[in-house]
Amino acid sequence: KIVVLDFGSQYNQLIARRIREFGVYSELHSNEMTLKEIQALGDVKGIVFSGGPNSIYEEDAPKCDPAILESGIPILGICYGMQLMQYVLGGKVEKADSREYGRTEIDVVHPTQLFEGLPEHQTVWMSHGIKVTDLAPGFEQVAKSDNCPYAAAADVKKGMYCLQFHPEVRHSEYGNDILKNFVFKICQAEANWSMKNFIEVEKEKIREQVGDDKVLLGLSGGVDSSVVAALLHEAIGDQLICMFIDHGLLRKGEGESVMETFGKNMNVNLVKIDAKDRFLKKLEGVSDPEKKRKILGNEFVYTFDEEVKKLTEGEDIKWLAQGTLYTDVIESGTKTAQTIKSHHNVGGLPKDMQFKLIEPLNTLFKDEVRALGTELGLPEEMVWRQPFPGPGLGIRILGDVTEDKIRIVQDSDAILREEIAKAGLDRDIWQYFTALTNMRSVGVMGDERTYDYAVAIRAVTSIDGMTADWARIPWDVLDKVANRIVNEVPHVNRVLYDITSKPPGTIEFE
Ligand code: XMP
Repeated sequence: KIVVLDFGSQYNQLIARRIREFGVYSELHSNEMTLKEIQALGDVKGIVFSGGPNSIYEEDAPKCDPAILESGIPILGICYGMQLMQYVLGGKVEKADSREYGRTEIDVVHPTQLFEGLPEHQTVWMSHGIKVTDLAPGFEQVAKSDNCPYAAAADVKKGMYCLQFHPEVRHSEYGNDILKNFVFKICQAEANWSMKNFIEVEKEKIREQVGDDKVLLGLSGGVDSSVVAALLHEAIGDQLICMFIDHGLLRKGEGESVMETFGKNMNVNLVKIDAKDRFLKKLEGVSDPEKKRKILGNEFVYTFDEEVKKLTEGEDIKWLAQGTLYTDVIESGTKTAQTIKSHHNVGGLPKDMQFKLIEPLNTLFKDEVRALGTELGLPEEMVWRQPFPGPGLGIRILGDVTEDKIRIVQDSDAILREEIAKAGLDRDIWQYFTALTNMRSVGVMGDERTYDYAVAIRAVTSIDGMTADWARIPWDVLDKVANRIVNEVPHVNRVLYDITSKPPGTIEFE
């Protein structure tokens, strides 16, 4: 495997991603990891030092265990990673008179294995205000740009390579080839990481971990928990017990689709809890968004707790499986975000539950989870399902929640989904749904005056849900959707299109 040490660059996950795309397993770790800890990971063929926002001379600039530089394991330092290597090994790092940001031309003067087979002149992506002005002993110049004498450098004997630019971003013309050269030619890693391989290794690991024990999984119908269910089912069959709590606030047809996929087709040991009544009762008359979220989150936990107790009566279930992703692992702990909304997740189960956790997806990125789901034979509409919030339609109905309003959102949302899929836009748009505003307005249908609800269409593009732009759905598609909604969904006489980005809006309405 190749270990990427994180010095804070916004591109650090991308490096691990690119390497995995070559078929070589790669993990991102804190820059504080010691050589001993790295070696304990086993079979580490190479190390990448990522870029980072700091200047090497800042007091709290991130450093690395100096033993790593003496270890003989091939190292590639990128941007800050290069500056750190040079600084520690005795080179000179200085503020650049002119910063280099964006597209830059470089000339390769001494290719080494890093640039083997690549053109002498190429475009790369730079982003730095500090540069190396004298190389550390043993290093030689590999490439230069107008402003930067050492756009790349190497100490070939020691297997140490440095790049001032970012090979991991698409704008670096031959970036992928440079990384490939490092991984295959210099580190001599083998391409043996694939989803098939992952499935076999994980299945074995899970079997070893749980033995004959039973494992419980809260299945929500979302991509992550569905993939965990499929993987665990392959690994341990009937020892897996899935609990699917239907709070009555799912999209149209979703409950049935989960039961069909997992119950009927895959024959998973699946318990469905019909909890709609208790949820709706608790929500009755409540219109404050945070109160609704709290009620939904709490009720979920109570329901889960109660049902688990019933299920485990006389039987001891030790394990709880969760669909935690690699991004969740990386982000937790560093995030100090203010609470904008109290998130409720199937994962957010009571802390006092005495379970041991199984998190088989915690080394995977979202699109790898999708690839895994496909490999495990899950249907496309499940693998490509858009993100859906734990509180469900409860936060897409502004104001108090009633059965009639749930129906309006379910029906209008189903129309939107159908038309978006027909237009072939379902994989381009991150999330698209309808919400019921708590506004009523006057309209005319036939010859009659109406006074009915307005439905809003929300559609956004996003990378991670943290920021988003409103999606430009073609007018003719919108026209069709709006027409169908007012004609097919009773009590709706107006359709609005939300053109707010995030920030200042949020993706959901509440
Ligand atoms: P917002 O509305 O905060 O949403 O811009 C960002 C992303 O998170 C989803 N979301 C949730 N997901 N539990 C979840 O599991 C929640 O309580 C929750 N609230 C929002 C939202 O759908 C979007 O993808």
